[in-house]
Amino acid sequence: MGRTYKIAVIAGDGTGPEVVKEGLKVLGAVSEKTGFDVDLTPYDLGGERYLKSNETVPDSVVQELKGMNAIYLGAIGHPDVKPGILEKGILLRIRFELDQYINLRPVKLYPGVWTPLKDKGPEQIDLVVVRENTEGLYAGIGGIFKHGTPEEVALQVDLNTRKGVERCIRYAYELTKQREAKKKLTLCAKTNVLTYAHDLWARVFELVGKEYPEVAQDYCHVDALVMWLVKSPEVFDVIVTNNMFGDIVTDLGAMIQGGLGIAAGGNINPNGVSMFEPIGGSAPKYAGQGVINPLAAIAALGMMLDHLGERGAAQKIDEAIQSVTSTKLKSLAAGKMGYSTSEVGDLVVAALN
Ligand code: IPM
Ligand code: MN
Repeated sequence: MGRTYKIAVIAGDGTGPEVVKEGLKVLGAVSEKTGFDVDLTPYDLGGERYLKSNETVPDSVVQELKGMNAIYLGAIGHPDVKPGILEKGILLRIRFELDQYINLRPVKLYPGVWTPLKDKGPEQIDLVVVRENTEGLYAGIGGIFKHGTPEEVALQVDLNTRKGVERCIRYAYELTKQREAKKKLTLCAKTNVLTYAHDLWARVFELVGKEYPEVAQDYCHVDALVMWLVKSPEVFDVIVTNNMFGDIVTDLGAMIQGGLGIAAGGNINPNGVSMFEPIGGSAPKYAGQGVINPLAAIAALGMMLDHLGERGAAQKIDEAIQSVTSTKLKSLAAGKMGYSTSEVGDLVVAALN
């Protein structure tokens, strides 16, 4: 018996299905080349289903997802659904229920890709952001008192547990230890103002760091960090941060690596089921036109295979993407690639060696 992976596929909303289709095309080709099998189960979660049935993720689906080897996600988000419902009901629900406590975001500029940073190239832009993914302001703790009145009070609690902070920081140290070049881990926080929550982060960072003498420890306040990311991205190797800061920093990261056309991420539970996605969102204005860039979804597929232990396949995908960005695409932006969505998928398949 060969290796078979059970993969849940949530194509989702907007351009999600178009990019997932290309990802699955590449998956078909690479699995054949490297000799593993996949057992795909599609789930129609997303805005359309919600509008029809008022359902986000049924409990039975959460249970089924827990039995998968991985989840491949397109995008969630629908213009006719009030903000927050699908995000919290689907994306955050899956992250929390499956305890995907790491949001992993490589920020790597590929050859031939335009970056808005002047005088910076692939040598300077190669880092990874490790974002805590199940706590912080995202925990959804709080409430509104005297709603809609002049005396209204809104509370949104920033939850930081010792366990949650420690496992995130530990993951980041392990990752940094395995990096080839700098082996430098930067804690991104705001210890000068958030003197309770980020004191916890700083103490745990130092404590866990004692177990990793080979990793250089570094600290940066979040406001300074975003300045440095633009001015000198080469000073960073791995950045570890909380959920909210990580959300913001990783979008900046996506831009300096060439935009949402290429940016991929993983929602990781190192001991459970992880979910991989292009981070660009559902981009409804481009849906159905065949103009969206599928490379981010294909890169997310590569991350998924790497996570599943199919290093060879992941490597092939990464090299194929690099060959397509450096020799084929005019731009990574939707509608400006010089190719359609499915042609870009074909180019990647052709470039798999
Ligand atoms: C992301 C997204 C989500 C987040 C939204 C859609 C809830 O922006 O994955 O970064 O804020 O985490
Ligand atoms: Mn985000």
